Order: sequence, then structure tokens, then C-alpha cells
Amino acid sequence: MKFVQVSDIHLGAPDALINGCSPTERLCACFKDINSWHSDAEFCVITGDLTEFAEPAAYKHLKEILSEFPLPCFLMLGNHDDRKVFQSIFVDYSQDENGFVQYSHRTASGIFLFLDTKKEGLETHEGEMCNLRLKWLKEELMSAGNQPVYIFMHHPPFDIGLPYVDKIKLFEFEEFGETLKHGHNIKHIFFGHVHRMTSVIWKGIPFTSLPSLNHQIPLVSDSVNSEFCDEPPAYGVVTINSEQLTIHFNTFMQRNELHQTEII
Ligand SMILES: [Fe+2]
Repeated sequence: MKFVQVSDIHLGAPDALINGCSPTERLCACFKDINSWHSDAEFCVITGDLTEFAEPAAYKHLKEILSEFPLPCFLMLGNHDDRKVFQSIFVDYSQDENGFVQYSHRTASGIFLFLDTKKEGLETHEGEMCNLRLKWLKEELMSAGNQPVYIFMHHPPFDIGLPYVDKIKLFEFEEFGETLKHGHNIKHIFFGHVHRMTSVIWKGIPFTSLPSLNHQIPLVSDSVNSEFCDEPPAYGVVTINSEQLTIHFNTFMQRNELHQTEII
């Protein structure tokens, strides 16, 4: 099976520039590329930070863009989102019994779990997995038994060596790590939030992240004279079979043609 991951789209109003880029243009270019070359994917997932300021207009704008996008799309919340505002626009969106935007998707290839690590408050950027959400995750992992499990979350539960994001990682990382022990066959965890491509093994489980579609966090903060930088956006193309999981990080806006030098 094949799916695509997109992260940190940070949408605003249709014509808004966020940190110098147009998130609308970036998302539309991304969806166009997915539609052109990966329409055989079973689904798309956006791993949080759907909006920059969590205003209703931004979620409505996202809803309009999604209405033109043919793949089923799983939406997740990040620190820049607002759960209540999201749920007021995406009415009756999947949620757990406590109203958190976390849910599962069962396929022949395995069970996909989408977590809600949003901590209440727009000024709060660290991640949260409260006891209610951890209980849901524990129950999902236990009911999965030996089936392959793939987890999606916005905030990582570990440092990546960038103080900018390390201080706003998942706060309950120890409890989260303990909860993962209830999983018998967790294959991979996909995350966002760090606005960089990373590959991490934590407690024996492989994790990967994607750049934002809009603005990136420099690996070395002093390497640019700004808070963010314009390294290439990318989406993930993930294929899974019984033997292998493969992720391509597709820097779709930099697919420049090359011409062979003619040797006379
Ligand atoms: Fe973000």
C-alpha cells in the first residue's frame, strides 16, 4: 500500500503570506504534484499545524482546498491549531470518546493511529498527551495485537538537538514511551512540528519527520539571519509491503530539468 504525508501547512487566509511565503500556493502546488504523480496513494495525512493562527477562515479555506483534492485526507492538530475552532468547521470530524481529534484507520496492511498532541492554548507550543489520550492509545495498541501499527503525531517525544523545537516537544514523553510498550508490532512513527527532515530511532522505534510546506527551521540557527529559512518543502511518499517500509522525501518544487552536455 501507498500513502502520502504532508506536514505543517500553516494556512492563513487565501492571500496571506506567512513568514514570507504563501502557504496556499505551497499547498496547492503540493496537492497538484501528488495528484499528478501519486494519485494511486490510498490516503494523504497532514500531521498538524493545519493553520498558522487557527482562525475559522483558515480552516474554511483548507476545507475548500480539500474539496478539490481527490485523495481521502486525514487531518491532525498541531500547536498552531485550535481544537474547538477546527471542530466547528470540520463538524463531526473523527474524535475519541473524550473529544480529542485522535482516531484509527484499519487496513489490510495494518492499523494507522492518528494522535492528538495539541495542548490547549494558542500561546502554548509544547505537546501534550494527557492520561485520557494515553489511555486511548494504550487500548488501541492492545487491541491491535500483532497487527502492524503505524502512528502519526505532531510533536515528537524526544530532542533532536535543536533548542528551538526541543523545548516544545511532547511534555509527557516518559509516559508516552511507557504506553508504547503495550504495542507488539509498532513499525514506524511519523511526526511533524520540527520543520525539518529527520530520521530518529527512539526506544527501538523508527521515527521520521518532514519539512513544513511553508517555512523551515535552520539546522544551525546562526547560519541564517532570520528565525526561519526557505529550504525546500517536501511531502513524503510511503510504500509498505510485508517486507519493507520505504519513504521518499519528495522536494516537489525543485524538480528542475537537466540537459545532457553534448560531446562533439
Ligand atoms: Fe509547524
